[in-house]
Amino acid sequence: MSVKKIAVLTSGGDSQGMNAAVRAVVRSGLYHGLEVFAVQRGYAGLINDDIREMDLRSVGDIIQRGGTILQSARCKEFMTPEGQQLGADNLRKRDIDGIVVIGGDGSYQGANKLSKLGIKTMGLPGTIDNDIPYTDITIGFDTAVSIVVDAINKLRDTMSSHERSSVVEVMGRHCGDIALYAGLASGAETILVPEVPFDLDEIASRMAGNFSQGKRHSIIVVAEGVGKGEDIAAEIMRRNGIEARVTVLGHIQRGGAPTHNDRVLASSLGDFAVRKLIEGDSGKSCGIIKGELVATDIDKVVNSKKQFNMELYELAKRLSQ
Ligand code: ADP
Ligand code: F6P
Repeated sequence: MSVKKIAVLTSGGDSQGMNAAVRAVVRSGLYHGLEVFAVQRGYAGLINDDIREMDLRSVGDIIQRGGTILQSARCKEFMTPEGQQLGADNLRKRDIDGIVVIGGDGSYQGANKLSKLGIKTMGLPGTIDNDIPYTDITIGFDTAVSIVVDAINKLRDTMSSHERSSVVEVMGRHCGDIALYAGLASGAETILVPEVPFDLDEIASRMAGNFSQGKRHSIIVVAEGVGKGEDIAAEIMRRNGIEARVTVLGHIQRGGAPTHNDRVLASSLGDFAVRKLIEGDSGKSCGIIKGELVATDIDKVVNSKKQFNMELYELAKRLSQ
């Protein structure tokens, strides 16, 4: 067997389903006869040697919980070669030869460095942003989108009572996927994402035309990568005079119980990562493409950009008239 002791950590912005992924890594590792360790607070714990051994019970009662029992951190020291070496040394002194890193694109950069230092490394895409290439979906995205859709349903009720427009700012960093999927699923009239240019004059006059034809509300979803919802609302109101209210959903999008889709995805990817390590694979990102589990070089993943789904964007536009 190429690895005997493995570790798991969660890093960067947390996401719903990270706990399910940790559980899968620990239980799959133990099932295959490995010793499994957990690193607390991401790369900070690796540097501070905050590492403990896990057993079957240490991941009990967590599959349904948001957040991460291993906690997460943003760790500047790990951006330095000295920090990375210290992290690798702390693993080596316990004879830990493999690690599963669950996190977003920044965490993947760190995983790539660990792999180059000779630690057998697997990355799992854990982020609500859905901005990791070479996987159709990331762990947490499905839950975050459900939260946004639920919020928009509620906003619709009150906005139509008052004939207002609602500007909803959602997360996603530089990626418009949360806005796109939640906007399409909730029937938003307008979806603003950083990947596609837009014209505020056209948006304001379309909205005015819709109101004059009897529409009683308007939902505009703004991805944070475009700018502040507050500024977009002011610009539109200045153009068409329709009262707009802004809702910034913020960290609500990162909390709560993961959906069954996120739990299944996290469980499948966690187990897959362990099996890949056992097969002797390293330096890979585990993902799912068209229903198939795939392992892609992390180097390739961190140097690529996720393709925006223009077809879905055009569909949302056609259906929102
Ligand atoms: P996310 O993983 O959600 O994108 P961050 O971008 O904050 O979150 O990255 C999480 C952590 O990954 C950082 O705090 C840092 O410790 C590590 N990291 C990010 N970029 C690099 C890099 N270029 N080299 C090494 N480690 C990195
Ligand atoms: O990457 C996840 C994410 O929630 C982004 O959508 C957002 O831009 C960022 O993290 C917020 O970071 P923080 O939790 O540090 O405010």
